[in-house]
Amino acid sequence: MILGTGIDIIEVERIRGSHERFGERFLNRILHPAEIAYCLSNRDPAPFLAARFAAKEAISKAFGTGIGAQLGWLDLEVQRKPSGEPFVVLHEGGQKLLAARGGTKVHLTLSHTANYAAAMAVLES
Ligand SMILES: CC(C)(COP(=O)(O)OP(=O)(O)OC[C@H]1O[C@@H](n2cnc3c(N)ncnc32)[C@H](O)[C@@H]1OP(=O)(O)O)[C@@H](O)C(=O)NCCC(=O)NCCS
Repeated sequence: MILGTGIDIIEVERIRGSHERFGERFLNRILHPAEIAYCLSNRDPAPFLAARFAAKEAISKAFGTGIGAQLGWLDLEVQRKPSGEPFVVLHEGGQKLLAARGGTKVHLTLSHTANYAAAMAVLES
C-alpha cells in the first residue's frame, strides 16, 4: 500500500551558489561522503548535487514531515545501483520514521537538466 508520495523541483543554480559560497561545509551538512564523491566525480557536479537535495526534500514530503527535527538531511542517503537506478538508504531518524509509519520501503526517481533537478518519492508499507 502507498503511505505517502513526495515531489520536489529545484533550480540547479541555487545549489551551485550554495556550493560555491559554503563549499565543503554545505556538502557535509546535506550529503554523505559517498553522495558527495559521486556528485563530484561528474564534470559539472551542480545538477547531481541539486538532484540529491531534491531527493531528500521529496522523501521528507512522502513522510509528511519536511526536513527538520524528525528527519534530517543525513538521515537520508541516495545511492545508485550498478544500472544507475537510485535507491534510498535510511539512517537513524529515517529508520525510526519508517518504522513509526509502518513503512517498509522508500522508492525514488530523479531527473535533471542543466537548469532544474527534480525528484519523486513513494513511501510503501
Ligand atoms: C517540506 C519542504 C521540503 C517543502 O519544500 P519547499 O522547497 O519549501 O517548497 P516546495 O515548493 O518544494 O513545496 C511546497 C509544497 O510542499 C508541500 N508540503 C509542505 N509541507 C509538507 C509536509 N510536511 N509534508 C508533505 N508535503 C508538504 C505543500 O504541498 C507545499 O505546497 P503549498 O504550500 O502550495 O501547499 C520544506 O519545508 C523543508 O523541510 N525544507 C528543508 C528546509 C531547509 O533546511 N532548507 C535549507 C536549505 S540548505
